Amino acid sequence: MSATVGESGDGFAALMKATAAEVDRALDGYLPRADEPPRRLHEAMRYSALAPGKRIRPFILLATARGFGLEPASAMPSAGALECIHAYSLIHDDLPAMDDDDLRRGRPSCHRAFDEATAILAGDALLNLAFELMARVQPGLVGPAAALAAAAELGVAAGSRGMVGGQALEFEWPHPDEAALLTIHRHKTGALFRAAASMGGHLAGADPESVRLLSDFGETFGLAYQIVDDLQDAAQDAGRGTGVLGLTPAGEAAGKARAVVDAARQPLSALASRGHRLNALKETLDWLQAKL
Ligand code: IPE
Ligand code: MG
Repeated sequence: MSATVGESGDGFAALMKATAAEVDRALDGYLPRADEPPRRLHEAMRYSALAPGKRIRPFILLATARGFGLEPASAMPSAGALECIHAYSLIHDDLPAMDDDDLRRGRPSCHRAFDEATAILAGDALLNLAFELMARVQPGLVGPAAALAAAAELGVAAGSRGMVGGQALEFEWPHPDEAALLTIHRHKTGALFRAAASMGGHLAGADPESVRLLSDFGETFGLAYQIVDDLQDAAQDAGRGTGVLGLTPAGEAAGKARAVVDAARQPLSALASRGHRLNALKETLDWLQAKL
């Protein structure tokens, strides 16, 4: 690839695309082959994990690791683990008992392309593959303490105190006010982004204060990301009664999203003043802001 994460290449969009292609090549190798039994399960795992997507969580992990001096190749298994968890969450989120969605990433959702039992198992297996990948760091490049810290971050972020907790809150709070919605978003979406940035820091051996700032950046970025995603959905579905964050018109929610994007700039400034200039993360924020 001509551009490398953390260096300026032929523009940010090209860098994201090139990184997504590298992540997909790695995932292709991590995932069981479709002709290995149980074939239907392996096909479903590959169908969902390799479906077209931005791979933005791996991008943030790799960009952070690179910013702290760890080459993307050494952080790739962890980036793959993160994407496996994201893919599993989308499969389960689309199930009839959850959001009951027929489409995902422009194609039939996993349970529509296969069947419900296969979709449940494909999600389960992707979560377990993530757990395996977290243990597959390259000794010598990533130390065992760093690998364990990254694995613990991912476990917390993906679980009941993070992403799954956020999904549960959506059921527990059917009529959330704005503050409750922000709490849901911070868990459901913010937590995995928090893990993306903090895992990159841990794997690269960043100091604890830098990891704390990275966590703050990631979670705030994720919160902004979810609001932007909701705004884009609302724009496509203008007839929908509820506004984003309960705010109508959508302009108010866009203003809120801008404030959250600004808030995510603060930890990056603090990192820069500590000597860690993370250009790729700044450009990722600019990319998100440009959607507003
Ligand atoms: C979709 O995630 C679900 C949200 C948290 C908004 P992405 O926007 O990262 O979806 P893909 O992976 O690019 O398809
Ligand atoms: Mg959903």
